[in-house]
Amino acid sequence: MTAFSVENENGIAVVTFDLPGEPVNKLTGDVMDEFGSLLSRLGEDGMVRGVVLISGKPDNFIAGADIEQFSRLRSAAEASALSREGQEIADRVAGFPKPFVVAIHGACLGGGFELALACHWRVISDSPKTQLGLPEVQLGILPGVGGTQRLPRLVGVRAALDMILAGKSERADKAYRLGMADEIVPESILRQTAIAAAERIVRNGPPRRAHKGGAQALFLDRTPIGRRIVYAQAEKQVRERTGGHYPAPLASIEAVKTGLERGLNAGLKEESRLFGELAMTDVSRNLVQIFFATTALKKDDGVPGAAALKVSPVRRLAMVGAGFMGAAIAGTAVLNAEVEARLKDADLPKVGKGIRGARRILDDRLKRRRLKQPKYEQLVALLSGAADYSGFLRADLVIEAVFEDLDVKRRVLAEVERETRDTAIFATNTSTIPIGSIAAGSARPEQVIGMHFFSPVEKMPLLEVIPHAGTSAETVVRAVRFGRKMGKTVIVVGDSPGFWVNRILLPYMNEAGILVREGVPIDLIDRTMTEYGFPVGPVTLLDEVGLDVGAKVAKVMHGAYGDRLEPSDALERMLADGRQGRKNGRGFYEYRDGKKAGPDASVYSLLGVTPQENTPAATVERRLLYAMLNEAAMAAHEGVIRTPRDGDIGAIFGIGYPAFRGGPLRTIDTLGPARVADTLRELAGIYGHRFRPSASLVAMADRGEKFYPE
Ligand code: 3HC
Repeated sequence: MTAFSVENENGIAVVTFDLPGEPVNKLTGDVMDEFGSLLSRLGEDGMVRGVVLISGKPDNFIAGADIEQFSRLRSAAEASALSREGQEIADRVAGFPKPFVVAIHGACLGGGFELALACHWRVISDSPKTQLGLPEVQLGILPGVGGTQRLPRLVGVRAALDMILAGKSERADKAYRLGMADEIVPESILRQTAIAAAERIVRNGPPRRAHKGGAQALFLDRTPIGRRIVYAQAEKQVRERTGGHYPAPLASIEAVKTGLERGLNAGLKEESRLFGELAMTDVSRNLVQIFFATTALKKDDGVPGAAALKVSPVRRLAMVGAGFMGAAIAGTAVLNAEVEARLKDADLPKVGKGIRGARRILDDRLKRRRLKQPKYEQLVALLSGAADYSGFLRADLVIEAVFEDLDVKRRVLAEVERETRDTAIFATNTSTIPIGSIAAGSARPEQVIGMHFFSPVEKMPLLEVIPHAGTSAETVVRAVRFGRKMGKTVIVVGDSPGFWVNRILLPYMNEAGILVREGVPIDLIDRTMTEYGFPVGPVTLLDEVGLDVGAKVAKVMHGAYGDRLEPSDALERMLADGRQGRKNGRGFYEYRDGKKAGPDASVYSLLGVTPQENTPAATVERRLLYAMLNEAAMAAHEGVIRTPRDGDIGAIFGIGYPAFRGGPLRTIDTLGPARVADTLRELAGIYGHRFRPSASLVAMADRGEKFYPE
């Protein structure tokens, strides 16, 4: 393998990294070996006065260490050794006897950024494709090529921890402002600027960098007492944010602290030791799986043989229904897919409000400097609307987001089919109505599909695409590709009530209602599930979604699946008392000035129960979790999802199922299907038949199978 090629430009060796046969550059074992030999050669070569490292990939510098090799690591010692080898190479770059400059365009992540940090001078392109970051904690590990040591030394402990602990990347301009790069230039002159920098350093000696920030920065970043304050604060924040479930951020603080307080060598040693430990955790294995699952979904068009289909992309979108959802879908489509979006509603004030709602998403990006003014103006111009179907003739895709009522949706479908070209797709954004029954009256049923967005659309990463029995493969592919262009992770799911996400969510929410109805304290229920790892508890979620919406979904699902999904009367009683949740400031919780306060104690008397303060949290957790696991297994076996991967990604991205647990199906595998079935039987014995394990789960347990083959 020759991943590196060298050209000598008047004494400056320009090393181009271009890993053969791969879309991105990554640091595999072979790459590191080859780079190591190259360093020796360049060090000894009398014709070389300085070095520039650059990538040969169009929009990628280095994507980091090869994540695939992590799954082959068998012990912490092996993983530590891998990190140490990377560190040694980075040390050799840092101590290279000749100026070593790096020219970065595209993603420069993980080990790639760490290698760049070891270089003597960093030039980056100002392209939006350029991003610098240390995403390791998102994989349950820490930067293991010296990143926990060199970044804090370069930009100060606060900025470094900010990046490392969140696993985030910065765009070029911000990275430059923070001091992560020394020069920022257009991509067209990146190479020559880097060569010039190397020549300059050859002439003038090593560069000096001024420390950024004033007296406060000096104190917090550069004194042991100041740093102690920073570590303590960071630890506190991490514990609050992760509930102690994610060990990598805390380990990162430890590595940074060791290095800054006890010296670089001690820090590097601690970094590789912790890297080894973390790489062996289930948390890391699960997070790595999620990386590969989301990467695979980026290319999965939802039907077999999609690549061979002739499918034209969606260029113009039209929305029927400019309410909250419709506006957010339009705004997100304009922002990410840069398509025209035409909004239609019953009257112009409604349309105007919708356009304003869509614009707010763009305004927000502008304010946060994610959009530049000219781009913003251009995107705003893509939004238009009317109180009739004018403009719909141009649309490739019409998304309907009107009231959840079958007759209304059918009527809209008939109108849209009259007003659009016969190639246009009709997508319905329903959460409860079967797509097949909406399509029943269609003139072009093969072009009818479900696109189930989650609220808030601009933030929620998931989209469920739901073909009905008569949807064509081309329509699926168009919808999936458009969803992806909107920035969503897309799963294709079956057309049965609740699809996938609401199907598994509903028994869990029902159980929360039953618990409240028994007098189990509201905050105990929510706390139990946030401690399990959900971002919010189920009762808070009911308040957020709206009790009216929750009750309606519960009714539909009860109708579809029978007794097993019979809800308690908690929601009906709450609704009868005029409580709709956050939206009208009255729900299970109290709201003051639009902010959620504590649980509303009057709920207990309204429901005629006394709070059962002594309910063990373990009981609450088991009931809620197993209600979801049982339904997930059942729906998976029914074929609602195509693969366990889709199911787990749907649960993590759609309802915040704890990522470190890998998803509900992964949880069943981890616990063991037989044990899950036994626990369900036990719960059914105490609480009733709704917990009876599904026949398919029992069969799976009997056969000793798992969702994921080992
Ligand atoms: N290791 C292994 N494979 C990788 C990889 C990596 N670090 N980064 C990307 N790939 C693979 C993807 O799996 C995909 O493979 P496929 O074509 O076989 O499916 C291919 O490269 C292309 O990736 P994407 O489809 O994701 O391409 P995009 O252009 O959409 O995104 C990217 C590119 C931003 C680089 C994105 O792939 C990414 O975020 N990669 C992961 C970055 C990361 O987490 N790096 C840290 C690694 S851990 C580390 O460095 C530890 C060190 O400190 C010791």
